[in-house]
Amino acid sequence: MWTLALLPEGSSTPLNPRQAVPQPGRHRRPMTAPKPQKDKSSKRKRVLLTVVIVVVILGILVTAGYFIKVLIDSKYFFCKRSVKFIPLNKACDGNIDCIGGEDESTCVSDFTVNTTFPVRLTTDQFVLQVYSSGSGWRSVCSDDWTEQHTQTACNQLGYTNKPQSTQVRVDTLISSLKTGPFTAVMPGTTTTPIHQATIDSNKCRSGSVVSLTCSDCGHMGNEIRIVGGTSALIKDWPWQVSLQQGGQHTCGGSLVSPRWVVTAAHCFAGTKKELSRWKVVSGQTYMSTLGGSYVDKIILNGNYNPELNDYDIALMRLSSPITVGENRKPVCLPPNMFGIDAGASMVVTGWGYLEENGKVSPSLQKANIPLLNQSICTRPSVYGGFITPRMICAGYLEGKVDACQGDSGGPLVYFSSSRWNLVGVVSWGVGCARENRPGVYCNVEEMLNWIYTVIEKNP
Ligand code: ARG
Repeated sequence: MWTLALLPEGSSTPLNPRQAVPQPGRHRRPMTAPKPQKDKSSKRKRVLLTVVIVVVILGILVTAGYFIKVLIDSKYFFCKRSVKFIPLNKACDGNIDCIGGEDESTCVSDFTVNTTFPVRLTTDQFVLQVYSSGSGWRSVCSDDWTEQHTQTACNQLGYTNKPQSTQVRVDTLISSLKTGPFTAVMPGTTTTPIHQATIDSNKCRSGSVVSLTCSDCGHMGNEIRIVGGTSALIKDWPWQVSLQQGGQHTCGGSLVSPRWVVTAAHCFAGTKKELSRWKVVSGQTYMSTLGGSYVDKIILNGNYNPELNDYDIALMRLSSPITVGENRKPVCLPPNMFGIDAGASMVVTGWGYLEENGKVSPSLQKANIPLLNQSICTRPSVYGGFITPRMICAGYLEGKVDACQGDSGGPLVYFSSSRWNLVGVVSWGVGCARENRPGVYCNVEEMLNWIYTVIEKNP
C-alpha cells in the first residue's frame, strides 16, 4: 500500500482524483487539501534518521558479534549437534567430549608409511626412478618417453606446476647409476602410473635417462640480499610461512606446493591439536596476523618421537591453495642421494628469537650456516647418540649463528642447479648458537617417502 511518505518528492497528485468516500469503521483522514510541504519533508527526515540509526546500531551489533565470535572461537569448541561449548584445549581428546565425537573430527592426525613410494627423483641430476618389490629401483630410459609421461610421473609426485623433462646421458651419471638397472615405458601407456608402465631392460636404446623437474619451485626474487646482516625479504624466501595460533606466531613452515606446508611435528605438541586454531600466514616479511589460510589437515609423521625429537616432521594442507606470486612460491623437495658435502653453505630463515631467551623477531631473518658432517655432530662433545639418521646438523661448533625458538618447522635450504631445495626442517638444539651445540634439523631426504605418500593419499 502506498503511503504519503513514500510519494516521490514534489509530487502533489492526489491519491484519488475522485472525492474519496470515507469508509465506515476506517480512520482515514480525508484528503481535502495537499499537506503543507514543510510537514512532509520533516516526516521524511525522521524516517531517514530512523534508518540511519537502525543501520548504525546493526553495524555496531555485527562488529561486536564478530569480535565476540572470534574471542569465543579462540577459547571454545562449539558442538553443533549437542549445542554445547567445550574448552578448545579439551577438544582433540583432552576429553569433555561432544555427543557423537564431533570434537575429535577436526584434529591433528598422524600417518606412518611402511611401503615404498614407487616413484622418485635421484641425485643432483634428478633422474627419474621407479620401484617394484621384485626389481628394486630402476632408472627410466628416455626411449619412447613423451610429454604425457612427464605429466603422469609428476602427478604421482604431487608436484605438477610446469612439469618439465630433459634427457641425461647415461655416461654422465654417477657411477652407481651408470650400470643400471634400467627400465623404459611401454608405448601407449601415457596415463598408466609410471611404475606400472615400464618394462625392464639392461640398457637404454637412446643412451639417456629421464630427468624431471615437476614444479616451478625454488626460485626466489633477486640474488641473496642482506640488510643489516640478517634481515631478509619474503620475496627472496617466498616459501617461508608463519604458523599461527590465535594470532600468535608459533612455528615456521615451508610451502612445497600451493597447498602443502612442511613443518615440524613438535609444533603440535600438547593442546594445539584442533585444526581451527591454526592459520598459515604467507607472503609477509613483517610478521602479521592478518589474512592467512586455514588448514583442513595436519598430518604428523607417525614415527615422531617427542622424547627424542626423531621423525620431527609434519605436513599441513591448506583449505584452499595459495596463489603463487612474487611473495608466495614453493621450494623444491630435494632428490634422493642429493649428496651435499659437509661444509656446504645452507640458509635458514625464520621469525624466531634473535637470541636465546629473547623475543620473536618482527621481521624475517636469514642466516648462512654450513652443513655439519654427521660424524662431527655425533661426537660425544657435540650431541653424541642423540643424533639419529633422521637428523642433520648445521651451524658452527664455535656457536654464533643458529636458528632459535620460533624458527622451528622452518626451512633449511640449499641452492643447487639454480633452484633452492628444502634440505632440513628446524627441529631442536640445546640453547641457541652455543658452542658445540649446533642446530639440529629433520633430514628431509629421509622423509621423502613419507611426504610423497601423504600428498598422494590426500589429493
Ligand atoms: N625447538 C625450537 C622451536 O620450537 C627450535 C630450536 C632450534 N634451536 C636451535 N638451537 N637451532 O622453535
